[in-house]
Amino acid sequence: MWLVYVAISVSCVLKVSSLDNFIAAVYEHAVILPNATLIPVSREEALALMNRNLDLLEKAVVLAAKQGAHIIVTPEDGIYGWNFNRETIYPYLEDIPDPRVNWIPCINTNRFGYTPVQERLSCLALDNSIYVVANIGDKKPCNASDPQCPSDGRYQYNTDVVFDSQGKLVARYHKHNLFMGENQFNVPKKPEVVTFDTIFGRFGIFTCFDILFHDPAVSLVKDFHVDTIVFPTAWMNVLPHLSAIEFHSAWAMGMGVNFLAANIHYPHKRMTGSGIYAPDSPRAFHYDMKTKEGKLLISRLDSSSRHPVMVNWTSYASSIKAFSTGNQEFKSTAFFDEFTFLELTGVTGNYTVCQKELCCHLSYKMSEKKPDEAYALGAFDGLHTAEGSYYLQVCTLLKCKTPNLGTCGDAVETASTRFEMFSLSGTFGTQYVFPEVLLSDSQLAPGEFQVSSDGRLFSVKPPSGPVLTVTLFGRVYEKDSMLKASADLRAQAPGVMLGVIALTVCSFSW
Ligand SMILES: *[C@@H]1O[C@H](CO)[C@@H](O)[C@H](O)[C@H]1NC(C)=O
Ligand SMILES: *[C@@H]1O[C@H](CO)[C@@H](O)[C@H](O)[C@H]1NC(C)=O
Ligand SMILES: *[C@@H]1O[C@H](CO)[C@@H](O)[C@H](O)[C@H]1NC(C)=O
Ligand SMILES: *[C@@H]1O[C@H](CO)[C@@H](O)[C@H](O)[C@H]1NC(C)=O
Repeated sequence: MWLVYVAISVSCVLKVSSLDNFIAAVYEHAVILPNATLIPVSREEALALMNRNLDLLEKAVVLAAKQGAHIIVTPEDGIYGWNFNRETIYPYLEDIPDPRVNWIPCINTNRFGYTPVQERLSCLALDNSIYVVANIGDKKPCNASDPQCPSDGRYQYNTDVVFDSQGKLVARYHKHNLFMGENQFNVPKKPEVVTFDTIFGRFGIFTCFDILFHDPAVSLVKDFHVDTIVFPTAWMNVLPHLSAIEFHSAWAMGMGVNFLAANIHYPHKRMTGSGIYAPDSPRAFHYDMKTKEGKLLISRLDSSSRHPVMVNWTSYASSIKAFSTGNQEFKSTAFFDEFTFLELTGVTGNYTVCQKELCCHLSYKMSEKKPDEAYALGAFDGLHTAEGSYYLQVCTLLKCKTPNLGTCGDAVETASTRFEMFSLSGTFGTQYVFPEVLLSDSQLAPGEFQVSSDGRLFSVKPPSGPVLTVTLFGRVYEKDSMLKASADLRAQAPGVMLGVIALTVCSFSW
């Protein structure tokens, strides 16, 4: 009898209060950085700094709630910054319990020791009746009974926390794919797949560099069927293919989920670019290299985002013959990957370029061929090895930095060539392909392009601005397992890379 009653009441609750859509907020936060991150500070000093950041986050939470937002996402490192070592991050850390303990820190303070940061976040959520997503640091003591216990006797984790609208801790995620230089933190022993259910859909969570890897990011969508990803990040833009708004919106489309990306605002380190992305199109985005101000974005999204992604990424490309133009192929690098390119010499044309297993086909029409701007079609099929190792297959149409073809693939921020149409496809050996379109001055092109079920990324109208790049960014996760054996070797010599590479994606520390 009791069981029946419970079952009925639960299903009633779900029926009555589930929402078809909801209002999402993300806050690009101009983090107040500590003056010194390599000299230890006291717990009091650490708290004072964190409270200054929390004061700013509080303003954003209050504003978002006033506009009806159900959830707000804030950035990775948004409460204390970066560039720490193990010892100097320590005063900023709190013990964060497993959410299964059912804890509302705002009400039941000090149940798990002194945890003022969690208490404050919980109160922000409770007082404003809004889900709050934040990134803080977790510490977990360990000892000799655990052979992997670090010599200082504790694990330290880069951690996302979620408090529901009652202030309860409902999710805790320890970042798995730490970026190089994040030596203040440990990698959890296994990737954690963290979801939380709300009346506006099922959510999954991961952090920054995690987005380039299979676990937990792809598993959350494929095996745990989340509707929306919340994504705290501290992302440094890398053109042509890994600018924040460009890549994060492409991931939402490629995976068929809503994606709420909150980035740090720190133009000095090329950190800007946050957004609210639906699978079919960005709903709101922000990219601002000019001001020092944070920015709150708000937009409505469908609760159930899952348009099943039914794209065969190789179908069209493998059904047609290679186009021949007689143009000379050349090699040039984009973010350390050596692409095979063909220059687009006509105002309109059909081009094919291949590298290894991947052939990329492009049909395009420009409004006008400008003599001072060169565009090229490129293919890359191989292992990316700078700042992380991962297998890629990429087809890209891009603007070269200068008319000198040796600059094709270099970062370039502006263009003046307009396109009437484009259609790009490739013979991908993976189903994980992220469609990117980036216009001059780092603008996205919402509603201006689509992907067909046979794997063509095509314009549905002339793009509203000059084109920087149109790209199919494929990740061949299957091949990554071949790397595992050699990964330990590489991990032993990270200093070699740190010295020479000035471009970077996620938060770093040197
Ligand atoms: C850093 O030092 C300056 C000058 O001493 C001070 O005004 C500022 O508040 C300090 N910032 C932080 C985050 O402590
Ligand atoms: C070692 O750690 C485990 C779990 O963290 C704990 O149960 C145990 O009491 C600790 N042992 C000592 C000797 O501190
Ligand atoms: C995708 O299309 C290709 C070529 O038409 C076909 O060989 C392949 O079986 C298709 N893949 C899937 C998963 O349907
Ligand atoms: C490119 O191919 C399309 C369809 O295959 C064709 O209609 C068009 O005329 C071609 N354009 C050029 C410039 O060859």
